[in-house]
Amino acid sequence: MAAKSIPGVRTILAVSSGKGGVGKSTVSVNLACALAQAGHRVGLMDADIYGPNIPTMLGVTNLPEAQKDSDGGEWFLPAQAHGIQVMSMGFLASPEQPMIWRGPMLHNILTQFCHRVKWGELDVLVIDMPPGTGDIQLSLAQLVPVTATIMVTTPQEISLQDVRRAFQMWHKVRVPVMGIVENMSFFLDDSGKRVEIFGSGGGRRLSEAYGAPLLLQVPLLTAVRAGGDEGHPLVLGQPNHEISQAFGSLGRYVMDALNQMKTDKVQPEDIVQIGSFQ
Ligand SMILES: Nc1ncnc2c1ncn2[C@@H]1O[C@H](COP(=O)(O)OP(=O)(O)OP(=O)(O)O)[C@@H](O)[C@H]1O
Ligand SMILES: [Mg+2]
Repeated sequence: MAAKSIPGVRTILAVSSGKGGVGKSTVSVNLACALAQAGHRVGLMDADIYGPNIPTMLGVTNLPEAQKDSDGGEWFLPAQAHGIQVMSMGFLASPEQPMIWRGPMLHNILTQFCHRVKWGELDVLVIDMPPGTGDIQLSLAQLVPVTATIMVTTPQEISLQDVRRAFQMWHKVRVPVMGIVENMSFFLDDSGKRVEIFGSGGGRRLSEAYGAPLLLQVPLLTAVRAGGDEGHPLVLGQPNHEISQAFGSLGRYVMDALNQMKTDKVQPEDIVQIGSFQ
């Protein structure tokens, strides 16, 4: 099945990782906010059908609207928050309802999210991927032309193992890995001492092994966690915070790279490390 572009959507960026709980949704939300703040037209698709977190993390209060065309075709108008167009399974299922979808159903839901949502004119559609290298990742690559992916990892070996599998999976479906974000890189204790809870150097090792730039290292920080839980991401709540500024730089890098990939069909080779907090 050939991937079909989404009318009006210029580029598609998947935020992924082979591993769960490493911060994909946190990175997706803060990156989407940074891009919207910079004036880009941004959509955020929550492709985590089993565990949709985006509505809570982005503090979305309205629901997508169902709409019928004159020819009977049914569509969703995405929900909106902070100028971002949002679609998530979280809008369609109650929070307590367990999500027991089988493969074909997952594919159908993702098809609707891609091709039955009126995303409008977007510079970039960010897709928050679920953990793993399974059905959803493969479905997505079949459904739409994903311009590139950013891989999120923690520095620890067990995370790297899963991310390596994800590198291979994206390679197989011909989606370029734009770069790596290392999250939970370290924690600063009360005395200001750097504590490397999840080890160190993982993002760097991946970058060297796969030739994908390490774009950002994000420390463990209460404000990052709280921003997600409260539905008011750090990038919006504290725009001058060092981490918010780093997400701004990441956003600039991402847009340049996406545009370059779209026009030249090449992967940017110059490695720029931003916001290393060291
Ligand atoms: N840099 C950080 N500092 C503090 N807390 C963080 C940071 N990054 C993520 N978290 C917290 O860690 C938890 C997991 O993050 P998140 O949900 O973004 O991961 P995920 O990779 O999307 O998980 P899943 O695989 O379940 O989708 C969340 O509670 C989030 O608030
Ligand atoms: Mg998530």
